[in-house]
Amino acid sequence: MLLKIAAALNADQLRIVREHLHSADAPWVDGRVTAGYQGAPVKQNQQIDEHSPFAHQLGDLVLGALERHPTFISAVLPNRVYPPMFNRYAGGMHFGSHIDGALRLIPGSGAKLRTDVSATLFLNAPEDYDGGELQIEDTYGEQTIKLPAGDLVVYPSSSRHRVTPVTRGVRLASFFWVQSLVRDDAQRALLFELDRAVQTLNVAQADAAARLQLTGCYHNLLRMWSEI
Ligand code: NI
Repeated sequence: MLLKIAAALNADQLRIVREHLHSADAPWVDGRVTAGYQGAPVKQNQQIDEHSPFAHQLGDLVLGALERHPTFISAVLPNRVYPPMFNRYAGGMHFGSHIDGALRLIPGSGAKLRTDVSATLFLNAPEDYDGGELQIEDTYGEQTIKLPAGDLVVYPSSSRHRVTPVTRGVRLASFFWVQSLVRDDAQRALLFELDRAVQTLNVAQADAAARLQLTGCYHNLLRMWSEI
């Protein structure tokens, strides 16, 4: 399931993140430092040194916002989240076709994370740059994603994807991976649909007994499919 989530960061949070990324002491490094053997030859961008306190501070801000975002929680069902990273594309930089590595070591913790869901959070306005589209191949063909600042896209990490060259201006984004409680994308999508339907029925104060049954189905499916 490919899902766009509007306003994952609010205007204040965006301002803080952008101020930091534009500051002279932002520790930008070559993006290939975190690429695997498949990604490295096709990756051409810059990212904030993920081991820096700078990255931790900004990453915590993003995580704090997402932890409180009901659509993100319902759609992704996060178990473990890789600390968000930050990247920059300018002057023709791009990231060719690749599939994200299946397993990652969470820096500093030694814990492993299976990448079930990939996420890109757009940090500046689409009018600020030309190109820089995230193209994702999914079941229904190729999706071209270029979202307003603060919006997030989540998609299965099994998808082939690329970022087209940025030919004018600068593209700033945050990106990270999630190990979901529910590994299978189709099961996760079904739970999301069910949750949304229950929420709609709750708002409408529909028949209470039927809502209870549906809520029970949701939790019993989640119990059946989740791994912790
Ligand atoms: Ni990728």
